[in-house]
Amino acid sequence: MSVPELLPVLSEAEIQKRVTDLGRQISADYRGEPLVLIGVLKGAFVFMADLVRRLEIPVEIEFIRTSSYGKEDTSSGEVRLLHELGTDIRDKHALIVEDILDTGLTIEKLISCLAAYHPRSIRVCACIDKTERRINDLRADYACFPVDEGFLVGYGLDYGEKYRYLPAIYAIKNLTSEDPK
Ligand code: XMP
Ligand code: MG
Repeated sequence: MSVPELLPVLSEAEIQKRVTDLGRQISADYRGEPLVLIGVLKGAFVFMADLVRRLEIPVEIEFIRTSSYGKEDTSSGEVRLLHELGTDIRDKHALIVEDILDTGLTIEKLISCLAAYHPRSIRVCACIDKTERRINDLRADYACFPVDEGFLVGYGLDYGEKYRYLPAIYAIKNLTSEDPK
């Protein structure tokens, strides 16, 4: 079995600086408005925790889990919510917080699931906006970093549940089909 290699892509300092800027921008855009941040578990937990502490406005926090029936490094597009939303988002602005936008299928389905709760608006905030495999015209309304390609780990992102705890983001190389996902 090969040893996966981690190549640094974004340092902890770069991430923290960008999250601070994004927190300011989101605060300015939603000031005076009712806002619920909806983090997509598990991947968004680190980004969400950093982002809310950079906001200068009051917000409500919610988390959702989705199920996808694809392989673990791609998404099948058959996404559904694993539980009901615990916070009432009717007439409030919903901001979905994702670790990474890849094909865009997860977010497309999530937006249609959340629309059933009648929020005032739905926008998307992704730590990474990876455009190479995008198959719809969805873009993140807020994104920390555009990235062209590669499978990324760290800062909440995992490969087979490993690496989520790392404070920086890496591209993982040397994966073979024998490596556990
Ligand atoms: P889609 O393709 O629907 O899926 O936009 C987004 C979800 O796919 C996973 N994903 C990744 N996870 N490193 C990861 O750790 C990556 O580079 C990566 N690309 C896609 C992730 O679960 C994300 O929510
Ligand atoms: Mg995810």
